[in-house]
Amino acid sequence: MRKPIIAGNWKMNKTPAEGALLVNELKPLVADAECDVVVCVPATDIYAVAEACKGSNVHLGAQNVHFAESGAYTGEISADMLLALGVEYVIIGHSERRQYFGETDETVNKRTLTALNKGLIPIVCVGETLEERETGKTEEVLRRQVVEGLKGVEDITKLVVAYEPVWAIGTGRTATSEQANETIGFIRNVIAENFCPKCAAAVRIQYGGSMKGSNAKELMAQPEIDGGLIGGASLKAADFALVVNYNK
Ligand code: 13P
Repeated sequence: MRKPIIAGNWKMNKTPAEGALLVNELKPLVADAECDVVVCVPATDIYAVAEACKGSNVHLGAQNVHFAESGAYTGEISADMLLALGVEYVIIGHSERRQYFGETDETVNKRTLTALNKGLIPIVCVGETLEERETGKTEEVLRRQVVEGLKGVEDITKLVVAYEPVWAIGTGRTATSEQANETIGFIRNVIAENFCPKCAAAVRIQYGGSMKGSNAKELMAQPEIDGGLIGGASLKAADFALVVNYNK
C-alpha cells in the first residue's frame, strides 16, 4: 500500500533560527505520525533545520535543485550540496517557479532526472490554472506536465507527484475532495498509460492547495489522495501537526 506523505512547503518564510524553533516544536506533536513527515525549507535554513530534525521522524526537503553537477550557475544549488547537508526530498516545478521564474516542463524534467540520479526524492508539482480549468484544458495541461516532466524516469515510484491546482494555492479555495480525487485519479491513469500500470498503482500523489487541519481528514479519506503539500498551514507547528495527525 502507499504510505501517506505530508510535506510542508515553507516557501520564502523563516530564518534559520525560526525554522529550527518550528521543527523543535513540531517534533513532539508528530512523533507518533503514521505518515511520512517532511519540511521543505528555504536553502538558507537547511543547515539549522537539519540539526533540529536529527533523531526524529521529521524529514528534510529543499524547494529546488539545479540539474548540473556543478559550474557557472550563479544562485543555483546542486544535488550534492543538498545531500551533503542531509536533504532527502526536493520540490521540483512548483507552480510559483513555473509562474515567476521561467520553469518549464523541460527544466522540470532535467531537475527531476538529476535529483533521482543523485538519490534525492523529487516532489514533482503539476497543476492547472483557473483559466485552464474553466476552459476545459485541465486534462490536457496535466497530461503534458506529467508526460514531459517525467520523461525518461525509469522508476516512477522513487518520486512523489503533487497535484496543486494553481487556483487553490494560498487562496483559501480548496478543490473539493471529489474534484481532487478525480483529478489525481486522472494523473494516475496518465502515469499508467505512459510509464507502467504497476508503478502507477504504487506512486504517491499528494494534493496541495489550501489544505489545513480542518479539511485534511476529508481529503485524505479519498482513495487516490496519498498526502498533502502544505503551504500556509505548515508555518506554525500546531497547524502543521493537525494536518499530519489528520487520522487521530
Ligand atoms: P497553500 O497551502 O498556502 O495554499 O499552498 C499550497 C502550496 O503551494 C504548497 O506547495
